[in-house]
Amino acid sequence: MATFGPELWLFDGPAVTGAAGFEFPTRMVVIRLPRHGGLWVWSPVALTEDLRSTVDALGPVRHLVAPNSLHHTFLAEWAAAYPDAHVHAAPGLTPQIAGTEIHSTLGDEPDAAWAGDLDQVVVRGNRITTEAVFFHRASATVIVADLVQQIPRGWYRGWRAVVARLDLMTATKPSVPRKFRLATSDKTAAREGVRRILNWPANRLVMAHGAPISSGGKEALRQAFEWLLH
Ligand SMILES: [Fe+2]
Repeated sequence: MATFGPELWLFDGPAVTGAAGFEFPTRMVVIRLPRHGGLWVWSPVALTEDLRSTVDALGPVRHLVAPNSLHHTFLAEWAAAYPDAHVHAAPGLTPQIAGTEIHSTLGDEPDAAWAGDLDQVVVRGNRITTEAVFFHRASATVIVADLVQQIPRGWYRGWRAVVARLDLMTATKPSVPRKFRLATSDKTAAREGVRRILNWPANRLVMAHGAPISSGGKEALRQAFEWLLH
């Protein structure tokens, strides 16, 4: 566990295997909501006894968040471990795919439980997945799952290293992978979401797949989305 900002913690989990055998590093964000002290858990990683006791020491788990239709691998085990938690999922993730009940679908307005503490934007217009991007006000942190990535250069070997490099998954700065650019069929809709993201007074940037950035997050995001804005 790493403290990354006020009331914000990062937990790195074991890698998961995705399409074509590509392994992805995993990262979970836990935010303690000030009003009731409940925990907001974004993109849960594999749940172990150790992880569970570390999280429990921070507060009661109230919200489990799947930010897009791809980040649900461990959602069901967390929902089973924390049956009182509310499960929130991005549009496109069904209970059948997630293997657990979904209590609410993430939209462009923050849930009443975290409005004022977190803002959110659903980035639409992408054929691969629709992602909800969050902004934690107290720490000025933007939280993004797959839309922006920066996996370390040495993470992949052989042909996968070549593909990852061409796809900009392992670029020298946080980038929107080329597959997501190509899958942006409705650029107007995507641009609308991205413009809202770029209006946030962001300082920090957390990606599920990339080293967290402690300052200059807004500029990093602007550069990552430049291809879409111009
Ligand atoms: Fe991912």
